[in-house]
Amino acid sequence: MIGISMLGAGFMGEMHSLSYSTVHRAKIEPHRKARLITLADTDVALAEKLRRRYDWEEVTADWNVAIEHPDAQLFINAGPNDVHAAPTIAAAKRGKHLFSEKPLGRNADEAHQIWAAAEQAEVVHMCAFVHRFVPALQLMREMIASGEVGTIRHFRSNFLMDMQHPDESLSWRYSTDRAGGGATGDLGSHHIDQARFLVGEVRRVKAMTRTWSKDKNSQLHDVNDDWFLAGAELDNGATASFEASRVAEGHQLTGRIEVDGTRGTLRWEMERLSELYFSEPGKGPRRIMVVSPNHPYSDFWLPVGIQGSFAIGWRDCFSHQAYHMLAAVSGARSAPLGATFEDGYRVAEIVDAIIRSSESGQNEEIKFRA
Ligand SMILES: NC(=O)c1ccc[n+]([C@@H]2O[C@H](COP(=O)([O-])OP(=O)(O)OC[C@H]3O[C@@H](n4cnc5c(N)ncnc54)[C@H](O)[C@@H]3O)[C@@H](O)[C@H]2O)c1
Repeated sequence: MIGISMLGAGFMGEMHSLSYSTVHRAKIEPHRKARLITLADTDVALAEKLRRRYDWEEVTADWNVAIEHPDAQLFINAGPNDVHAAPTIAAAKRGKHLFSEKPLGRNADEAHQIWAAAEQAEVVHMCAFVHRFVPALQLMREMIASGEVGTIRHFRSNFLMDMQHPDESLSWRYSTDRAGGGATGDLGSHHIDQARFLVGEVRRVKAMTRTWSKDKNSQLHDVNDDWFLAGAELDNGATASFEASRVAEGHQLTGRIEVDGTRGTLRWEMERLSELYFSEPGKGPRRIMVVSPNHPYSDFWLPVGIQGSFAIGWRDCFSHQAYHMLAAVSGARSAPLGATFEDGYRVAEIVDAIIRSSESGQNEEIKFRA
């Protein structure tokens, strides 16, 4: 039983409440159980709603209360990006294990401070790049590592959304000061981490960004990027291209990742999360349903095989992530498949380089700090 406290009762706060309050019901052994202790949100009425739904023991408007609770071993930060650094660093200083939503910080400097604090405190840390817990992407990683796809030449990704606000106001996500990058930091960061997870580290980028969004109420004067396109070179000689948009009308959520090697190409799409397509030269695409007993997480909730196998959804991947985090806190020093805060920092460094390149029009080298 691991005691947790959390900041944020918004969209992600709800997702983590659902995942951590139910993960012990998974079939997978050993069972891992979380005790949901303190939930902090400045909107106490919202926190109170989650308390009733997910049995949090107490709610507070003040995150300091959440990080002080002596029984809380793990602190989850599901707040807006400008509320990641101070509470997470303060929780590290109190020896809490740390799980932070992505992006880790609003820029590389901030992300580096958060990572350094976690390392100094010698606690387990994980950054919420949840794509790492999509079974089909884990299988893609295994196939690449085994050499089945040959030498990798290209990684290619699109992350497209039409982020709509019914009253046309712009939330904290659109503010450079509050969020950091827009399409780059919010959406692109997921796929940049995937390029690193699947293929290799990013060395150099050249990029463009555009912004169309305007705040109708003239409250927000620092709207960040709506769209970006970046070409990148990886350390191992492969190339990568990333595109993300939050103003791609009609795309509720399009997420595509392709990896081309000398022996074939692999393709994954968010809309068909349990499927992986593999095309080899001279053969048409072969669909692999990643639901067989030998596939990752296929029997996470229920037995598979004799009674059939069932597709996995995005929500399940948050449960896989929660299980992984609880397992790391229970014993291992680090979370081997989950992104660490170092990964969160490195992605922030790449996002910063993309923004710099869009301003300079030049190639930007990535220099990672120790
Ligand atoms: N992993 C993913 O796939 C994914 C998806 C969506 C969002 N996110 C990330 O999750 C984080 C939260 O995003 P969201 O969509 O849940 O935002 P949200 O706006 O829905 O929720 C944020 C909550 O934090 C609360 N809050 C703000 N300032 C606070 C403070 N100082 N103290 C306590 N509470 C405070 C707000 O009242 C709000 O309820 C962001 O970092 C975002 O990038 C990740």
